[in-house]
Amino acid sequence: MNLKSPFRTRTTALFYFAATASLCLQGVLAVKKEDFKTCEQAAFCRRHRAFADAIVQASQSTISKGSSSNLAVPSSASPYIITSKSVHLEGHTLVATILHDTDKVPLKLEVIFLADGTVRIRLQEENPLIPRFDETQKHVLRDEGNTLEYASADSIGYSSETAGQSVVHTVCYTKEGNNFAVRLTEFPWSLAYMQDNKVVIEINHNGFFNFEHLRTKPDTSETNGVEGEWEETFRSWTDSKPRGPESFGVDIRFNGYDHVYGIPEHSASLSLKNTRGDKDGYGEPYRLWNLDVFEYELDSPMALYGSIPFMVAHNPNSTVGVFWLNAAETWVDVTREKSSTLSSLFRLSGSSKEQAVNTHWISESGIMDVFLMPGPSVSDLYKQYTALVESTPLPREFALGYHQCRWNYIDQDDVLAVSDKMHEHNIPYDVIWLDIEYTDGKRYFTWDSNNFPDPVAMQKQLSHDGHKLVVVIDPHIKHDSAYYVWKEGNEKEYFIKNKAKTDNYQGWCWPGESNWVDYLDSNAMEWTSGLYHLDKFNGSTTDLFVWNDMNEPSIFNGPEITIERDLKHYGGWEHRDLHNIYGMLYHKATYNGLRTRESPNKRPFVLSRAYFAGSQRYGAIWTGDNAASWDHLHASVRMVLSNNIAGMHFSGADVGGFFGNPEPELLTRWYQLGIWYPFFRAHAHIDTKRREPWVAGEPYLSIMREAILERYRMLPHWYTLFRETSLTGMPIARPMWMEFPKDTGLFAEERAFMVGSSIMVVPSTDPDISKPIDVAFPSKENWYDMHTYTSYFAPTKRQFTIDLAQTLVFVRGGSIIPTRERQRRASALMKYDPFTLYVYVSRDGTATGKLYLDDGETYDYEEGAFIERELLFVDSRLSSRPSAHTVETSAQRIFLEKMKKVRVERVVIVGLRSPLTRATVTEGDVVREIELSCGGSKASSECVVRDPAVLVSNDWEIAFS
Ligand code: GLC
Repeated sequence: MNLKSPFRTRTTALFYFAATASLCLQGVLAVKKEDFKTCEQAAFCRRHRAFADAIVQASQSTISKGSSSNLAVPSSASPYIITSKSVHLEGHTLVATILHDTDKVPLKLEVIFLADGTVRIRLQEENPLIPRFDETQKHVLRDEGNTLEYASADSIGYSSETAGQSVVHTVCYTKEGNNFAVRLTEFPWSLAYMQDNKVVIEINHNGFFNFEHLRTKPDTSETNGVEGEWEETFRSWTDSKPRGPESFGVDIRFNGYDHVYGIPEHSASLSLKNTRGDKDGYGEPYRLWNLDVFEYELDSPMALYGSIPFMVAHNPNSTVGVFWLNAAETWVDVTREKSSTLSSLFRLSGSSKEQAVNTHWISESGIMDVFLMPGPSVSDLYKQYTALVESTPLPREFALGYHQCRWNYIDQDDVLAVSDKMHEHNIPYDVIWLDIEYTDGKRYFTWDSNNFPDPVAMQKQLSHDGHKLVVVIDPHIKHDSAYYVWKEGNEKEYFIKNKAKTDNYQGWCWPGESNWVDYLDSNAMEWTSGLYHLDKFNGSTTDLFVWNDMNEPSIFNGPEITIERDLKHYGGWEHRDLHNIYGMLYHKATYNGLRTRESPNKRPFVLSRAYFAGSQRYGAIWTGDNAASWDHLHASVRMVLSNNIAGMHFSGADVGGFFGNPEPELLTRWYQLGIWYPFFRAHAHIDTKRREPWVAGEPYLSIMREAILERYRMLPHWYTLFRETSLTGMPIARPMWMEFPKDTGLFAEERAFMVGSSIMVVPSTDPDISKPIDVAFPSKENWYDMHTYTSYFAPTKRQFTIDLAQTLVFVRGGSIIPTRERQRRASALMKYDPFTLYVYVSRDGTATGKLYLDDGETYDYEEGAFIERELLFVDSRLSSRPSAHTVETSAQRIFLEKMKKVRVERVVIVGLRSPLTRATVTEGDVVREIELSCGGSKASSECVVRDPAVLVSNDWEIAFS
C-alpha cells in the first residue's frame, strides 16, 4: 500500500493523521472534547442561557409574591413588549414593533401567513446600524424564496381585543377545512400558533426572547462591554468580532407534545433528550455548527458535519414542525414540562395542565426567521416543509446501488483488480471510489500520474461492465502558483479573505497551505462548476462522479478544526454569518458542474459531508468518520433517521465503520443493515486492513453477497420510493412512529425502522449474536417475514434468535413490492430486465403498490418519459394501471418504445387464506390462462404465477380463482 502521501511530511496534517490512526489502532476511540466549544465557552450561548435563567428566577419570584397563579400565562419577566398601536395587517403579513424596556431599540416583527397554513416569523432591527446577514433564504428556500405562496388577503380575518393588561391580536384563516389562528399578545409579548382553537406552538411563552441589537463599540478607555461581546478567545484563537454582539434567542414551546426529533447532525437519541435540569439528559444544548469531529462520541448533542435546523414534534394526534432559517452558529436547549411535576428548572409562571416540550433557540448572527408548520399529519408536514426547501430530486439510478470505497485504492491496477474480484465473487456493485491519494499531491482535478497513468482507460474499462467511478474533490485548494486551479482562483480573486480583507485567508488541510473559495460570490461558484467540465478536468469522463469531503470546511490549524469566524466573504460578510451553508454551496457548485458537463444535461451524483437544509437538492450525504464498533452500527440507524426526518433523505453511514478493523461478524451485520440505508457505501480508513466482502472468507462472503444481492433485487422498489419522495418530501428511512403515529410505544424506538411505508427492518446490532431480539409488530395488520413468508398478526411482540445468515425484515400486509431478480454486475445492466411482483395480502385480502421507472439518468422524465404504475390487488384480481402523473408526450412515446419488451416475469402472492387454482390474464383484448402453483416449500401459503408475460408498460389484470 502506498503510504508515501505528502501529508506525512507535513506537521499539521501529520498530527491529524497520527491522532486518528494511532488512537484507532489502539482501539481507543475518544473525541478530543477540549477541541470543541461548550455553550459556556461560546459567549453568546452563555449570555442567552444566563438571560433565560434570570427570566426564570424573576418569574419565580413574581409567582411567589402571588401576582400570578395562572400557570398558562407567559412569563411577565420579559423586558420586551409590543408597542401599543404598532400592530397592523398588511395583506398577508401582520406587522408589529417590539421594544426593549430600557434600550428602546425598535425591532420589526413580521408574521407572514402562507397559503398552506405555515406561518413565517421574521424579526430584525428596524434600523440596524449596519445591515444584518439575510441571504440565507436566498440559498436555502425554493426559488430563493421568491415563489412562496401566501394566503390571500381575503381569506384572513383580523381582530384585536383587550385582555387583562394586554391587547391580543388574532389572525384566523382556513385552509382545506383546517382552521389556523395566530394570537399575538402585546404584553408580555408572545405569539401562539393555534389549530382548531388549540395552541400547538408558542413563541416566547417563557420570555427567553433576547435580541442583541448592533451598537457602536464602547470607547476602549471605558468598559469593553460584557465579556465576549467584542472579542472572544478559545484556546489559542481570538475572534475579533468587529460587529460586536448581534445574537438573538427565543423559546419555542410545543404544547401537548412529549417528543421532538430532527435538528441533525448529532449522534444523539432519536427522540431528543432534555439538555437542562435532567440527570438522564445531556448537559449541553444541541449544537449546530458544521464541524469535522474526529472520532465523534455517540449519544451526544455535540455538533457534527451537517446542520439542519428543522425540528419535528409529534403526539398521537398531530405532527408539527419548526424551521429556524439561520446559517450562523445555533444552539438549541430542550426541556420538558410534564403535566404532573410542579417544580422543574424551566417551569416558569406558565404551564398549562398539558405536557409540553420547551425549546430555546440561540443564534450568533443574522436575523430571526422562523417557520411554524402545522402538519397535522406527517404527510401534510412534509408537504409544507418541501414547499419551503424542496425535496430530494430523483437521483441517478446507479447511485442507489452498492458503492465500494476505501482510503485508498492505490492505483489503476488496484481499482481494476478490485472490480474483477467483485465479478469473480458474483458481487454486484455500481461504483468504485477514489479517495485523496489519486491526486497529484492533493491538487484536485489532477491525477497522480505514476499510479493513475491513464484514468480515462481505467474508466472505460469500468464502464464496460456498467460501473462508475467517484473521485474525491475537497474544497481546500493547494497554495501552489504552478497549480492551475490555485492560479486561476487567485487571479480572479475568488478566495475567502482574511479579516482585514487585505489578503487571501490561508489555512492547512491535506495538501498543506491552502485557500478556500468564497461561494457567496456567484462568479466564484460558476467558475468552480466549470472546473468539472470535460474539457477542463483532464482524465475525467461522463462516468466519473464526485465526492465533496472536508467542506465544513475542515481546517487542521483552525479553531475547532474549522475556519475563523471573522474572515471576510463577498459583500463584506463575515464567515460566522454563513458557516453552516458553506458546505452546501460547495456541494451545489459541484452539482451544477456535473449537470452541465453534458448536453442534454444528465443527473449528477455528488456525495457531501457537510450539509444544511436544501443540500438534499444536490446529492447524498453520509455520517462521516464513524468507527468499526457495534455501538456505531446501532447509532447509524438513529443518525440516518434523524437526517431523513430533516429532509436529508439520501444518507447512509460508512458500512464497516471508518476507523478500526471490524471483526467479520460486525462487518457482515453492517452489510445486512447497510443495504437498508438510502445511501449504501462501504468505506475504511487508510490504516485499516482490506475488508472487501471476500477478504473474510466463508461463511461471511456468501452472507455479505446475499445482502448486496438483496439490495439489487430491491432496486425497483428503492427507485420507486425515491420517486415518491421527490414528489412528497416524505422520508425514505422512517422512524416507526411516522407509520404508526398513534402507537406511543414506538415514539422513542430507534432500532426498528421503516423503509418507505411497507418494510420494517430490525437490525442485529449486538455483538452477542445469540442474544434474542425483540420485535414489536404494530397496527392491526399482518406482517410477513420477507425471506420465509411466515406471517405475524399484529399487534404482537415476538422474540427472535437468529444466526448470522438471517436478518429480520418484515413486509406489512397490504403491500406490493416490485423487484428485479436477475443477477447482474451493476444496475446499468438491469435496465431491460423483467420484474417480479410480490403481493403481500392484507388482513382484508387486498394490497397496493407502485412501480416507477425511467431511463435513470436524464431529465426526460420531466417531459413524461417514464412508466409509473399503480398496482392493485383486490377481489383476487391483480391489476396494473397508469398513475395519475402519467401523461402522453413524445418523450414518453420514445421511452415506451425502448421499454416495449420489458415484462413482468413472475408474480408471488403471499398470505392467501386458501390456495388458488386458476389465473387468467387479460391484457388488451387478449385473455389467456397462465400457470400457477401454490404452496411451495415455505411456511405459509403463497402462490406463484410463473410467467404472466404481461408488459410493464401495459394495462393488464390477472384474475385468480
Ligand atoms: C475524511 C473523510 C473520510 C476520508 C478521509 C480522507 O476523514 O471523512 O471519509 O476517507 O477524510 O479523504
